[in-house]
Amino acid sequence: MRAAMAAAEVGDDGYREDPSVRALEEQVAGLFGHEAALFVPSGHMANLTAVAAQTAPGQVVLLDARSHIARSELEWPVRITRLRPRIEDLPDPGRALTLPGTPRTAVVCVEQTQGHRGGRVIPEASLRELRSAATTTGTSVHCDGARIWNASTASGVPLSTYGSLLDSLAVCFSKGLGAPVGSAVVGSRDLVDRAREWRHLLGGRMRQAGVLAAAASYALTHHRDRLPEDHRNAALLAAELEPWLAAPVQTNIVMLKVPGDPAAFAESAAAHGVLLRPAGDGRVRLVTNLDVDAIAAKRAAETLVMLLSEKAG
Ligand SMILES: Cc1ncc(COP(=O)(O)O)c(C=O)c1O
Repeated sequence: MRAAMAAAEVGDDGYREDPSVRALEEQVAGLFGHEAALFVPSGHMANLTAVAAQTAPGQVVLLDARSHIARSELEWPVRITRLRPRIEDLPDPGRALTLPGTPRTAVVCVEQTQGHRGGRVIPEASLRELRSAATTTGTSVHCDGARIWNASTASGVPLSTYGSLLDSLAVCFSKGLGAPVGSAVVGSRDLVDRAREWRHLLGGRMRQAGVLAAAASYALTHHRDRLPEDHRNAALLAAELEPWLAAPVQTNIVMLKVPGDPAAFAESAAAHGVLLRPAGDGRVRLVTNLDVDAIAAKRAAETLVMLLSEKAG
């Protein structure tokens, strides 16, 4: 990846003159069967620009209460795009638009995989049901697809099928795929042009971004095929830590219920060489990734079993 970055051809992406950024955008759009894509610095900016591109102030955006947008990004719908967020418990979004009392909704956001639901994959059938209701009500469907690569790997549903059911996506290169920086907005050419204006407005226009795009492109080409390894390592952790599991494990996220303060538990795990994060509701979150092999995952599981058993004792 570092070699690909060093070799990247670059130009001024503000004028769309960076060939590596353009190549990445084409590659990503193609994977999802959409017309266009836009490289942005973060997942946050990808969600914001994608949703802003298809809404007007005062409109309703429907969010799952356990989504990253609802929990960690709610400032932008309220303060920047001036939408009216409606937050519901939507583990399965299929019926989201046919719930009693649903107001006219401009955009419904789904998250694939669902991070705060333990990396759960929204089933294809649920997305199809949502798509059909959204088409009837004239609602757009946006997907925070930070981990959609993991969803596709685990479910076998091609990225192009997800693309066909969604009006816009925000996808991330710097989480499970291991690139240093970057996300993309994916959608129609019109939508992406509007998202580009929003990126400019937010100060997200970059110049020689090709070095970053080359890393993202390398990650897309070389790191997607190894995601099953992350899922196997998460399953290994889940098997060892079964008594403490807070949610079934389907992809690369393992949520554990821990006794006492999750932040204190994370600190003592770190002191033993295991890095995890508090995740709210008495839980901690572990994420397997390309820096953790099966031996390390097994060692992490043993360490956590030791710490959790001590606590229980
Ligand atoms: C599901 C999901 N979406 C979006 C984001 C935001 O991405 P970024 O940190 O690149 O802004 C995150 C970050 O943790 C996430 O987990």
